[in-house]
Amino acid sequence: MPFARSLLKISTILFAVALGLVIYQGSRYSSLFEGQSESPYFGRWKTWFSLSQSKVPGSKQSLEKGWNVIHHLGGNGPWIENTGEDADPNLAPPEGCSVDQVHLLSRHGERYPTPSAGSRHLQFLKRVEETGLPLNGSLEFLNDWAYFSNNPERDFGELTNTSPYAGTLGAFTTGVKFRTRYEDLIPRDSRTRLWASDSGRVIDTARHFASGFFGLDWESSGKAQLQIIPESFERGADTLTPGDTCLRYLEDPILGHDNGLEMLLQFQETYIPAIANRLIHEDNIGLSNLSNEEVYGMQEMCGFELMVRGTSPWCEIFTKQDWYNFEYARDLLLYYRAGPGNPYAGAMGWLWLNATTGLLHEGPMAGSIFLSFVHDGDIAPFLTALGVFTGDKELLPTTHIAAKREWRISPILPMGARVTLERLSCSPTHEDPQVLRGHVLSISLWNMSVNEAKK
Ligand SMILES: *[C@@H]1O[C@H](CO)[C@@H](O)[C@H](O)[C@H]1NC(C)=O
Ligand SMILES: *[C@@H]1O[C@H](CO)[C@@H](O)[C@H](O)[C@H]1NC(C)=O
Ligand SMILES: *[C@@H]1O[C@H](CO)[C@@H](O)[C@H](O)[C@H]1NC(C)=O
Ligand SMILES: *[C@@H]1O[C@H](CO)[C@@H](O)[C@H](O)[C@H]1NC(C)=O
Repeated sequence: MPFARSLLKISTILFAVALGLVIYQGSRYSSLFEGQSESPYFGRWKTWFSLSQSKVPGSKQSLEKGWNVIHHLGGNGPWIENTGEDADPNLAPPEGCSVDQVHLLSRHGERYPTPSAGSRHLQFLKRVEETGLPLNGSLEFLNDWAYFSNNPERDFGELTNTSPYAGTLGAFTTGVKFRTRYEDLIPRDSRTRLWASDSGRVIDTARHFASGFFGLDWESSGKAQLQIIPESFERGADTLTPGDTCLRYLEDPILGHDNGLEMLLQFQETYIPAIANRLIHEDNIGLSNLSNEEVYGMQEMCGFELMVRGTSPWCEIFTKQDWYNFEYARDLLLYYRAGPGNPYAGAMGWLWLNATTGLLHEGPMAGSIFLSFVHDGDIAPFLTALGVFTGDKELLPTTHIAAKREWRISPILPMGARVTLERLSCSPTHEDPQVLRGHVLSISLWNMSVNEAKK
């Protein structure tokens, strides 16, 4: 990390990066269905399961206590809070400093499968149905299970709106959290703008967030205004979604956008055939075989069903090792598609960084709150340009799990993930470099990224 540890003061102003990076908070969510929750405000969901589920969720004990699949879904699961070792327990501004500007870059909230993933799931289920055979072994539950959307055309790609993990609820809650921390920054006499890329789930996330942050009347009262930025190629550098406008990234068949999928497919081949074999030999010979895509789809359905129903039998048919493999497969996908493993990522992420750096320099005169809503494929480039999570010395291998990797999507980019940048303004006598530790964004970052983008 070329930037992180140097502390630079620019006329008593410090730019601090509070990477609001979202990992884990104890077993807050996993305990939902065990009838107890840590906070009385969080309430119990035990009786509030979908009527289309055949039995009360959570009646089956999952793999083991203290281990929760929710932390291994590689971005394909509910938002989780960062309580990892790197989580800063004290995000209070250092003494003598106060936040005078905040920037948010947020992924959309929990969603249904995209149309392409969803149609893979439906194709598999149709194939099973067409055999006319009951399933056995771990797949037996399928005989009595219905897909988590009965209206795919309406649901695919959109925020989920049921269960404790509903994307609508998560976005609203995030707005309330932001209000709790930044209420004083809300301008009294001017309209705050929110930016969302032009995708239903992204726009809905921004709207639910705005309701939690500004209040339900955010639009009619003139407190805030949502600006939708097309995800079209024509936008060029004036975009929130550089992956849609960077020509060479789109056209390069080897190192561009498709790089991620290729690496994912390679890695699937290392672990999925053994799972397919196991499932087939649980007396499911009638299925003849299971493709990599089908088994991977089953693993995806665990996360998606969680986000719709709060629980899923798909989560229970795989071993811990199967989940580590799935998690790594998804790490590879984003790493090579839009993260440090993609040569175009740094330049793409530089756009938002450049714009934001300009505002940080200008300070509160330019405005106090900047809120952007996008996709994971737009945040990964930003993190890459920022130079965080780029500590992996060699490119991640597709032959085996790189156990010690820094790049882990589960904690970094779950649904609803967000990066928050806080600009701190400090008194001239401020003298406490220790407090900021690795969270300081120095000017050298800006220089590094400019050069990287020029390459
Ligand atoms: C499941 O077991 C039953 C009974 O042995 C058998 O008839 C059926 O073909 C099996 N299902 C599959 C998918 O092989
Ligand atoms: C799976 O079985 C189908 C039909 O039996 C066959 O056409 C296909 O090649 C098989 N796929 C694999 C990966 O073995
Ligand atoms: C970088 O930011 C500056 C303002 O800080 C802006 O004038 C310039 O156009 C930006 N460059 C790009 C390529 O967006
Ligand atoms: C950034 O780069 C410019 C031009 O190379 C240089 O003048 C400036 O001092 C650099 N700033 C920092 C903080 O390193």
